[in-house]
Amino acid sequence: MTKTTVDRADLIRKTETHIRELLAQDSSGHDWWHIHRVRASALAIGRREDADLFVVELAALLHDVADWKFHGGDENIGPQRAVEWLKSLGLDQPTADRVGQIVSEVTFKGAGVATRPSTLEGSVVQDADRLDAVGAIGIARAFAYGGHAGRAIHDPTVSPEEHASFAAYKSSTGPTINHFYEKLLLLKDRMNTDAGRALAAERHRVMEDFLTEFFAEWKGEK
Ligand code: ADP
Ligand code: NI
Repeated sequence: MTKTTVDRADLIRKTETHIRELLAQDSSGHDWWHIHRVRASALAIGRREDADLFVVELAALLHDVADWKFHGGDENIGPQRAVEWLKSLGLDQPTADRVGQIVSEVTFKGAGVATRPSTLEGSVVQDADRLDAVGAIGIARAFAYGGHAGRAIHDPTVSPEEHASFAAYKSSTGPTINHFYEKLLLLKDRMNTDAGRALAAERHRVMEDFLTEFFAEWKGEK
C-alpha cells in the first residue's frame, strides 16, 4: 500500500489557520485561545506520556471544530469535519481516522456516563481539554458559556442533577453554578494521566475556594 507523505509542519500550520479563522468570533469559551491552551497542555502531557505528538497536536487543534453544543446536539459532525479536513490536506485515511476517533471521545457526556478514551493520544487530549474546564480559566469559561447559552448564574431553587445519559446531559438547562456540581468538580477524579491528575487537583482547589466565597457572599455573610 502506498502511503502519501505529507509535510507534517505544513499540515499543522494550515490546520491552525483554519481553526483560528473558524473560532475567531466565539464568545462561549470555545474561542481560538481555548484551542491554543489545550494544544500546549496536550503537547506537554503527551511528551511525558510518550504519545504520538503529531496525532495529539492535530486532535487538540481539531477537537472543537464542530462541537455538538453548537450543532444541534449532533456529536458526529465534529469527528466527520476533522477527518474531512485532514483528508483534504492529503493526510492518509488511517491517521485521519485516529484523529477523528479522538475528537469523538474527548467530550464530557454527563456525570453517570463513562468517557475513557480508547487510545493514549485520546487520553492526553481529553486531559488537556478538561484542564481548561477547571481552575480559574474553567470558572471564566463556565460563566462565558452560561451567558452565551442564556443560563442563570445561580438559582437556589434549582438543584444540580446527576445526568445518567448523554441525552439527559445535553438537554439540561440549569444555572451555571450547578454545572460545577454536574461536571467541573467531578473532573479531578476522572483524569487519565498522572500529569493531568496533579494539575487538575490544584485547579480543583481554586474552584472550591471560589464556590465557598460565592455562597458566603450570596448569603450576605461577607
Ligand atoms: P466538553 O466537550 O467536554 O464539553 P469543551 O471544550 O466543549 O469540553 O468545554 C466545555 C466548556 O463549556 C467548559 O468550560 C464548560 O464549563 C462549559 N460548559 C458546558 N456546559 C455548560 C453549562 N451547562 N454551564 C456552564 N458551562 C458549561
Ligand atoms: Ni474543548
